[in-house]
Amino acid sequence: MTLRSREGLTVDLVSRVLKQTALNPWLAIPLSACTAFSVPITSDFARVRLLLYFCTILGTTLRVNEWLNKWSMNNWTRSDSPDWNWAKEVVVITGGSGGIGASIAQQILARNSRTTVVIVDYAPMTWTPKPGTYVAYYQCDLSNGSSIKTLATQIRSEVGHPTVLVNNAGLCRGATVMEGSYADVELTIKTNLIAPFLLVKEFLPHMVKIDHGHIVNIGSASSLFPPARIADYAATKAGITAFHEVFLPGTDAP
Ligand SMILES: NC(=O)c1ccc[n+]([C@@H]2O[C@H](COP(=O)([O-])OP(=O)(O)OC[C@H]3O[C@@H](n4cnc5c(N)ncnc54)[C@H](OP(=O)(O)O)[C@@H]3O)[C@@H](O)[C@H]2O)c1
Repeated sequence: MTLRSREGLTVDLVSRVLKQTALNPWLAIPLSACTAFSVPITSDFARVRLLLYFCTILGTTLRVNEWLNKWSMNNWTRSDSPDWNWAKEVVVITGGSGGIGASIAQQILARNSRTTVVIVDYAPMTWTPKPGTYVAYYQCDLSNGSSIKTLATQIRSEVGHPTVLVNNAGLCRGATVMEGSYADVELTIKTNLIAPFLLVKEFLPHMVKIDHGHIVNIGSASSLFPPARIADYAATKAGITAFHEVFLPGTDAP
């Protein structure tokens, strides 16, 4: 999902424009074919032709890679299968009272205003859902395992079984390993890593039972390149990536 593309010049926006123009195989292939059968008049023409070949190969490779990634991540099934009905899906988004979680919620509702969205956060809502949409808000401290148990029971009985879980809530205390208190480290690991694990334990069984659902875990580049002062945060994001990969085909069934 492309986030925050409306907030000015972003990497997302640049890559989208490149994909639709220079690296679009549907444009690059016919143009390359035309130039392949033309006689080069100037040396510039030969250079342009070479550039077109390069764009064709790169664009096609990226498209095939994207297609293979999508199918493999989706267990080689269609994500837009007929049994996927956004008007009936129940989407739980943690940390959705603001930030990235709110953006995900708003984009899901923009796609289909009848999707049921459940926001779980300990911060109050910072955005107002549009009239006619159904957005439930549950206040919960996700660093507390027994609160998660109570929350899950409440969501199931009051809203229904979730079919999409977006583990987005996360925090970062920003202290060095030596400076950070026990409380900082515990809060970070419980919120960023243990809560997603427990929420999946709560909601996955029903998704498996009906063979229908999505689990989305929000990671971070810091899991690959951990900057100073956020060792605990980076470790939780590396952990969430490992946790997420258990759902990929070829690994043990969750
Ligand atoms: N923003 C980035 O540049 C970036 C980059 C890479 C990854 N991410 C990841 O993307 C996700 C969302 O980031 P964001 O920037 O949107 O963060 P955000 O604006 O701070 O939103 C996160 C929300 O989660 C809530 N939260 C934190 N701890 C909680 C807990 N124990 N129980 C319940 N709610 C809790 C926060 O409440 P409070 O505001 O009260 O703390 C906040 O409302 C996070 O997982 C983050 O690690 C963000």
